[in-house]
Amino acid sequence: MRSMAGEYQSGPVNWRIVTSLWPFLREFRGRVLLALGLLALAKVAGVLVPLLLKFIVDHFEGTTERPLDVLIAVPLALLLGYGLLRFASVLFGELRDAVFARVAERAMRRVSLSVFEHLHKLDLGFHLSRRTGGLARDIERGTTGIGFLLRFMVFNILPTLFEIALITGILLLAFSPWYALVVLVSVVLYVGFSVVVTEWRNRFVRESNQMDNRANTRAVDSLLNYETVKYFGNEGFEAHQYDRNLASWEAARMKNRLSLAALNSGQALIIAAAITVMMIMAAHQVAEGTMTLGDLVMVNAYMIQLFIPLNFLGFIYREIREALTNIERMFGLLHEPAKVTDKPDAPALALTRGQVRFEAVNYAYDPKRPILKQISFDIPAGQKVAIVGPSGAGKSTLARLLFRFYDVDAGRITVDGQDIREVTQDSLRQAIGVVPQDTVLFNDSIRYNIAYGRPDASDAEIEGVVRMAHLDTFVARLPEGLDTQVGERGLKLSGGEKQRIAIARVLLKNPAILILDEATSSLDSHAERVILDALAEVAQRRTTLAIAHRLSTIVDADEILVLDQGEIVERGTHAQLLEARGAYAALWFHQQRERQEDVR
Ligand SMILES: Nc1ncnc2c1ncn2[C@@H]1O[C@H](COP(=O)(O)OP(=O)(O)OP(=O)(O)O)[C@@H](O)[C@H]1O
Ligand SMILES: [Mg+2]
Repeated sequence: MRSMAGEYQSGPVNWRIVTSLWPFLREFRGRVLLALGLLALAKVAGVLVPLLLKFIVDHFEGTTERPLDVLIAVPLALLLGYGLLRFASVLFGELRDAVFARVAERAMRRVSLSVFEHLHKLDLGFHLSRRTGGLARDIERGTTGIGFLLRFMVFNILPTLFEIALITGILLLAFSPWYALVVLVSVVLYVGFSVVVTEWRNRFVRESNQMDNRANTRAVDSLLNYETVKYFGNEGFEAHQYDRNLASWEAARMKNRLSLAALNSGQALIIAAAITVMMIMAAHQVAEGTMTLGDLVMVNAYMIQLFIPLNFLGFIYREIREALTNIERMFGLLHEPAKVTDKPDAPALALTRGQVRFEAVNYAYDPKRPILKQISFDIPAGQKVAIVGPSGAGKSTLARLLFRFYDVDAGRITVDGQDIREVTQDSLRQAIGVVPQDTVLFNDSIRYNIAYGRPDASDAEIEGVVRMAHLDTFVARLPEGLDTQVGERGLKLSGGEKQRIAIARVLLKNPAILILDEATSSLDSHAERVILDALAEVAQRRTTLAIAHRLSTIVDADEILVLDQGEIVERGTHAQLLEARGAYAALWFHQQRERQEDVR
């Protein structure tokens, strides 16, 4: 199960991924610099606040001997300044976020798009062996990871370091080096502790994510199989399975919570100890008279201010770690090589008449199991070749090779004399229309799905192909007509209706070469007859490769190939094959007998 969050965190983290983000920042160099400037202003303002506080406190300490006017004027200015600085530190922070938002969002958009485009470049084989759900999660997690990393790298880790440096500097300048030393030691202790404990906790986080995913996958799979669950009355079994997963999830969450409590307590202990040590030192000095009361207040304020951002460190460390893994995984997708690619400078297919030729083609999905062996045939321009044969013989595979979903292992396929590997995939696919064996539709309206054949088609053209595919009576009966929603994958339509939509959109595409992979298998014999006539009409001028189980649908083919276990075992016209009295003739008489029995 590749989509599990847990596995994203295992293994070493590749911190170098951070550098791969620079290009996205470079695009907005100005904005990044401005944001960094605002950030510095915000931090400086923030660091000045305790300083002012000290002056205010010190002022009161010495009030008794001062003239009245000074007493009123100075604290007022100080107090106003104090308020302004507080506000400024927040305001600059917000401005910084606003300025930087563009950068992070644009980077996320850029990356999502390039991954999406790349996924469409990858071959069918990649997509068949991959769970689409997991893929979508990979992209989602990766882009969120980039946004997170950019924001927190730039706005949490860096500023915290900056703030620590500033505060240590001030303490160093104002008091004895011991204060700076306590700050540094406690920060190092704190960070070290957080990192170590977070690494240790990671296992529990991972476990609970894994259990969460497992329970989810289980629930989704069970709901997808709703019908199957009912057929076998297995609701109780499903609930039991789900609850078992939930129980492990519960246990994992508990460990997660407890370890978080340990982390938080440890961090709090370090903070408390550091502050106590500082306060003892400061109190001692105040008693000695080498430090004012204001100094003591300032030291305390600095310590509290310093540990607020550090408090999030454990969380941020874990999140960044996870973000890096997710980004790496997404970039891994980008580096996934496409098996079917255009040659550099490949020309477009020069389509003249649409002649198709297979020359001694061999193909195997898995090298250990050859599917097609030495397949050679010709479809002269405008003619129709039919392929029949038992299930699993390799018929659809032939069609996929012509469409170049896969490249042949040996031999070659040409269209109008050009090897299909030498021309661009776009131009080749433009020339070919496919009515696939299983039609899958977009979860949108009937109109949208038909217009997909040629998005710029006019309404009149769409209505034309609706008539040609004999969808008109069906559509007329729908309350919402062409705007009826077809449901996920088209599941709200019957098999025959889906098939007719597939035919309609290919008619709209109007290609020179047609591949019909059992294009009418889901239709009743009457509808099939009518559509075959319509298809025959369109196929008249087109080169057609028709795959069929029902032989009655291909008797008019110019040549019929009988395919068995990847080999052409018989070939000829319908009449010739009947005369030969081979496998085709046997199948034909078998199907004829069945039909007569049906009629009776
Ligand atoms: N992506 C794939 N990876 C591995 N094997 C595959 C893949 N697609 C198909 N096969 C195998 O290749 C063989 C030929 O498949 P193909 O779809 O071409 O058969 P077919 O002749 O169209 O059968 P049917 O009449 O049932 O549609 C089958 O045994 C199938 O299991
Ligand atoms: Mg097939």
